[in-house]
Amino acid sequence: MRKKIAAANWKMNTTPSEGLSLFHELQRMFHVGVQADETIICAPFVHLSSLLNDTSSPFCIGAQNCYTEDFGAFTGEVSAPMLKSMGVEYVILGHSERRTLFHETNEIVKAKVDVALSNGLKVIFCCGESLELREKGMHQLNTQNQIQDSLSHLTASQWKNVVIAYEPIWAIGTGKTATPQQAQEMHAFIRSVIAKIATKEVADNCSILYGGSIKASNANELFACDDIDGGLVGGASLNANEFYQIANSF
Ligand code: PGA
Repeated sequence: MRKKIAAANWKMNTTPSEGLSLFHELQRMFHVGVQADETIICAPFVHLSSLLNDTSSPFCIGAQNCYTEDFGAFTGEVSAPMLKSMGVEYVILGHSERRTLFHETNEIVKAKVDVALSNGLKVIFCCGESLELREKGMHQLNTQNQIQDSLSHLTASQWKNVVIAYEPIWAIGTGKTATPQQAQEMHAFIRSVIAKIATKEVADNCSILYGGSIKASNANELFACDDIDGGLVGGASLNANEFYQIANSF
């Protein structure tokens, strides 16, 4: 059985004290239980230790990036062993903002996946096409290449610690959501790619999240699709009530 997951990606938003207030507000709401099997809060690095301090929290805590090396002279970077030793459980890798703004290639994302998994972190691996590639009809090929180039070497036991997030770039932060049909088509395709590079069993057990302008008002119809196992939520995750409703949309 695949896990139903609601994951928040706060991106570079909130000061540490604002983040902690949002976290406490979420805790009060989520306390009564939600439909999602797992709720993950991916916060900025500087917020992580205060969020992890709260051991009664119902949330898994995630980071939004890590570096390709364990330690060393890499000024300004944060490593997987550092995150793991704090108690961080997940790390988002290959987000389109990192691929486009920080020039992360499939090769770099692959190295980050390896360092994260070997240090015991779980990975939320992001993939998805630009508007230009969709208009050229290359959305499947592009997404397949991202997955193949960065994940085809993983073993079945490593796959247990990988969640995929399909995030079409044209839907991120734009208010333009993929239709449930468009999203379902891509999720089923991604599952077939995983079955090819790993096994059908791995593919059937891998949670594939949708991301891109998810809101309380559209989460239900997206999560109702057979191959959509939850969402990676940006903007709407900064509003506790909105995110709570999304985590209850399964
Ligand atoms: P969005 O962002 O929900 O604001 O579109 C999603 C993401 O980038 O993870």
